Amino acid sequence: MKFFIDTANLAQIKEANELGILDGVTTNPSLMAKEGIKGTEAIMNHYKTICEMVDGDISAEVIATDFNGIVEEGKKLAAIHPNIVVKVPMIKDGIKAIKWFTDNGIRTNCTLVFSAGQAILCAKAGATYVSPFIGRIDDSGWDGVQLIEQIAHIYAIQGFKTQVLAASIRNANHIIRCAEVGAHVCTCPLDSIMGLLKHPLTDIGLAKFLEDAKKM
Ligand code: G3P
Repeated sequence: MKFFIDTANLAQIKEANELGILDGVTTNPSLMAKEGIKGTEAIMNHYKTICEMVDGDISAEVIATDFNGIVEEGKKLAAIHPNIVVKVPMIKDGIKAIKWFTDNGIRTNCTLVFSAGQAILCAKAGATYVSPFIGRIDDSGWDGVQLIEQIAHIYAIQGFKTQVLAASIRNANHIIRCAEVGAHVCTCPLDSIMGLLKHPLTDIGLAKFLEDAKKM
C-alpha cells in the first residue's frame, strides 16, 4: 500500500518525506486555503514546490465544474510537473473530463466519492485513482472502511486498473483497516501516520533497555 500525505503544509510534507516512506501528496482547495495560498500564480508555485520536494504523485485539484473549464484547468495543472495528478470532482462533467484526460495521457484522481456506483464510473472513465472519503462516511454514521473493501473487491473481480485511494483518514486505525481490506493507497494527515509509530509497550521496553544499558 502506498502512503500519501493529505496536506498542503510544506513543513508537514518535509517531516513525512524525511521518514522515507512517503509515496505522494494530495491537496484540495480547503487544504490550500488553510496554508493561505491565494491567486493562480501562488497556487501553481506551491504545487511546483511540492513536486520538487517529493518524488511521487502529487494531486492538484481543479476548481471548475464544467467540462471545458475542468479540461483547461487540468491541462495547466498537468503542465506544472510530470508527477501532477489532476484531481477532479465526482460530477457528470467531471467524469466526462476524466475520460478526456485518460484519452490524452493525463492522470487523474476522482475525488468526493461516497459510493461504489460512483467508483465504478471513475474506473470506466479510466481514472488513475478513486478517492472515497472514509472519515466523512464515518461522520455520517456509516462505515467508510466497508466502502473501501467493496470498491477494492469490485475492481479486483472486474479487472479495473483504477487504484483505490482511501481519503479523509482520521487516525492510525483507519490506515491499518484500509491496508487489511486492500486499499492501494492511503492519504493521511501527518498525525495519523505518526500514530502508527506509537505503542506504550515500545516506550516502556525502550526505557528499560536504556536503563539496563547503563549497567552494561
Ligand atoms: O483530500 C481529501 C480528503 O482527505 C479530505 O479529508 O478530513 O476533510 O474529510 P477531510
